[in-house]
Amino acid sequence: MMNMRNRVVIIGNGAVGSSYAYGLLNQGVADELVIIDLDKDKAEGDVMDLNHGLAFAPSSMQIRTGDYRDCEGADIVVITAGANQKPGETRLDLAMKNTEVFKSIVDQVMSHSFDGIFIVATNPVDVLSYMTWKFSGLSSERVIGSGTILDTARLRYQLGDYFRIDARNVHAYIIGEHGDSELPVWSHANVGGIPVDQYISMHTERYDEKDLEPIFHKVRDAAYHIIERKGATHYGIAMGLVRLTKAVLRNEDALFTVSVLLEGQYDEEDVYVGVPAIINRNGVREIVELNLRQDEKDLFKKSVSVVKDAVERVKH
Ligand code: LAC
Repeated sequence: MMNMRNRVVIIGNGAVGSSYAYGLLNQGVADELVIIDLDKDKAEGDVMDLNHGLAFAPSSMQIRTGDYRDCEGADIVVITAGANQKPGETRLDLAMKNTEVFKSIVDQVMSHSFDGIFIVATNPVDVLSYMTWKFSGLSSERVIGSGTILDTARLRYQLGDYFRIDARNVHAYIIGEHGDSELPVWSHANVGGIPVDQYISMHTERYDEKDLEPIFHKVRDAAYHIIERKGATHYGIAMGLVRLTKAVLRNEDALFTVSVLLEGQYDEEDVYVGVPAIINRNGVREIVELNLRQDEKDLFKKSVSVVKDAVERVKH
């Protein structure tokens, strides 16, 4: 009898990992949640605290601390462990030290015959998604990085705020590195199905295309502004990870700008970066190739080279 209960294992119970656990519980996404962290007291304390909320949750969920043996038979392993950005640090500054952390983590996960889906959240997420793919030996569709899902959500929020429309009616992508070289795909942005430039031209008394670039800068630099104020970002990314987990466990065929391996798409290969991809129970079902404008192609190429250079540096 196939086990129909789905199990999620979180490796790393810091601000992102514990916010993600809280989100899974609140949205009733998984049947079983195992939290692994070097700080066993904190993990045990969070498990106790989360279990005390079960009576308020939309569905039951078995929540416990565990170890790498729990990865055997797990559906999803989410990695949030590693050093995070300090004020003034870029995500790429973390590449070397977090790659070493990931080598140890992924080896331990795979030593227990893990055959599920990796979701990588630790930064620099594109570099670490690539290294997880390499270290694990799994097929690339089973290694997904959070990529630019949060950046895309930030752009939708900022555009929704600007146009005074629910962000869920605004569709726009950030692609490339989850970092300073990311880019907005204005050519495919729309407000309720109306291309954004057309929507602006319908209301020139209120909107101006010159406002779009500053809106993008707010998105690109958001993490720095949050880290300056509260030391870390975690709620937004945790909600993105919960949404991604739901898409996998419920076999949704939902589209996100996740970090995935390009193998010729967008004329790039052997690199993980954020592009639109369709996600289901088996991981990455397919990568969606946008027909980018030439200026977008040029920026995307630059962003890919930033990630590739960072991977080369950690590989040697
Ligand atoms: C941020 C982290 C997740 O952008 O990189 O908030």
